Amino acid sequence: MKQLVFATNNAHKLEEAQAILSEQFTVLSLKDAGFLGELPETNPTIRENALQKMRFYFEASGKDCFADDTGLEVEALNGKPGVDTAHYSGSRDAAANMKLLLSNLEGAVSRRARFVTVIAAMVDGQEIVVEGEVWGTIAQKNSGDGGFGYDPVFIPEGYDQTFAELPSSVKNAMSHRARALQLFASELQRIV
Ligand code: IMP
Repeated sequence: MKQLVFATNNAHKLEEAQAILSEQFTVLSLKDAGFLGELPETNPTIRENALQKMRFYFEASGKDCFADDTGLEVEALNGKPGVDTAHYSGSRDAAANMKLLLSNLEGAVSRRARFVTVIAAMVDGQEIVVEGEVWGTIAQKNSGDGGFGYDPVFIPEGYDQTFAELPSSVKNAMSHRARALQLFASELQRIV
């Protein structure tokens, strides 16, 4: 089985990636590949963050690898928080980030938003970049205890509950990250 380093130590992401790529690859975490820290994300776009992370770990390990980066883009805020999603309020505290988002949307006519995940990879000498998205709206207030991050305020299109209220199986079948991983798996089947 071929090995692929995923530039993360997040157990949930590793499990999700392994499940989708299991036919062709064993997915290794950064720790498995011998890296202690994670690279800070300092680029102006989600795509550049994913590419920079992937190239850094590819050059450092010499192993085929991929990296992801995710952002929440809200139409009425001109795509913000976008690349600042993880630390929108100045900290990584999800409650503070959602509070700021809801207050910035007070009185907004549209609450349309999307989560987008970019995966950048180097496999068999080929660079791959794919993007998965899920559209929805930002709720008026937080609801639900499931998931993480902005899940309590994101209502995916076609539903009337937030990602934090919906069963995780429903979220995981349609999420931005799942869609990016599925596209990545199709690209891998094409080239490997
Ligand atoms: P990352 O690039 O996967 O670390 O994601 C950046 C930030 O986006 C996280 O810190 C979360 O705030 C948010 N985020 C990513 N994925 C999700 C999700 O599935 N639900 C809610 N928030 C998410």
